[in-house]
Amino acid sequence: MRGLSGKRVILTGGASGIGRASALRLAEEGCIVGIFDLNEAGARDTAAGCGGRGHAYAVDITDRDQVERAVAAFERELGPAEGLANIAGWDVPVNFLDTDQALWDRIIQINLYGPMNMHHVVLRGMAERSAGRVVNVASDAGRVGSSGEAVYAACKGGIIAFTKTLARELARKGITLNAVCPGPTDTPLFDGFKAASPAGAKIGDAMARAIPLRRIGVPEDYPGLIAFLLSDDASYMTGQTISVSGGLTMA
Ligand SMILES: NC(=O)c1ccc[n+]([C@@H]2O[C@H](COP(=O)([O-])OP(=O)(O)OC[C@H]3O[C@@H](n4cnc5c(N)ncnc54)[C@H](O)[C@@H]3O)[C@@H](O)[C@H]2O)c1
Repeated sequence: MRGLSGKRVILTGGASGIGRASALRLAEEGCIVGIFDLNEAGARDTAAGCGGRGHAYAVDITDRDQVERAVAAFERELGPAEGLANIAGWDVPVNFLDTDQALWDRIIQINLYGPMNMHHVVLRGMAERSAGRVVNVASDAGRVGSSGEAVYAACKGGIIAFTKTLARELARKGITLNAVCPGPTDTPLFDGFKAASPAGAKIGDAMARAIPLRRIGVPEDYPGLIAFLLSDDASYMTGQTISVSGGLTMA
């Protein structure tokens, strides 16, 4: 893909699952990748697989100060961020009427405040330099809903609307933002979802059966699209929401 060689990209959630597969692919495409994750050992492990192009940072994206420090360290050590991929996320399946506000807060902090912190810090520099590409990993839960995931779906729907709004605000600054919506995918997050309760296991199995391509996703189903959206080949695309879910949703 064009324009990825040497591009500096900050990626959250790179210690595991979709984030890890995406970091490895971006490094393969020649990007210099800053892997931001709570899980420092996992981030280091991913960085080690990036052939000298990966750099691990221990960051809790819900903590604004930590985000500012890590972005500053990345830019001091490697140069200005040219791409941002927000991939970190978290959920646990509980029917909404059985949830409490402590759980809402945790889900909203990780899936909404975390990406907002990342945008607020990284996009200031991009706006000054009038260039930048952002990819936000949302979820099909945010497009069509997902039983047991009401608050998470609200956050992911919020991320889709947030992406479109910033795409409008920042287009004249040469910054593009697009959202990718995975369907059910075989990662530690989905394993946790299924293991959390009998209801989680039932919902997980039902989702897999409903997929036209007859399998759930794997982390490697996403990095090609994420790399494309960070590349110059996608320079005329912004504000778009793309599902990668085996045909589960066809919007
Ligand atoms: N797996 C699925 O079925 C599925 C479906 C739709 C959308 N998604 C989305 O895809 C993205 C990646 O999910 P995954 O399945 O690869 O999950 P995963 O659990 O394998 O990886 C998530 C990563 O995010 C990191 N993380 C969590 N909270 C963090 C925080 N506060 N600060 C920094 N890092 C944090 C974790 O340490 C982990 O490394 C998420 O945004 C998720 O919501 C996943």
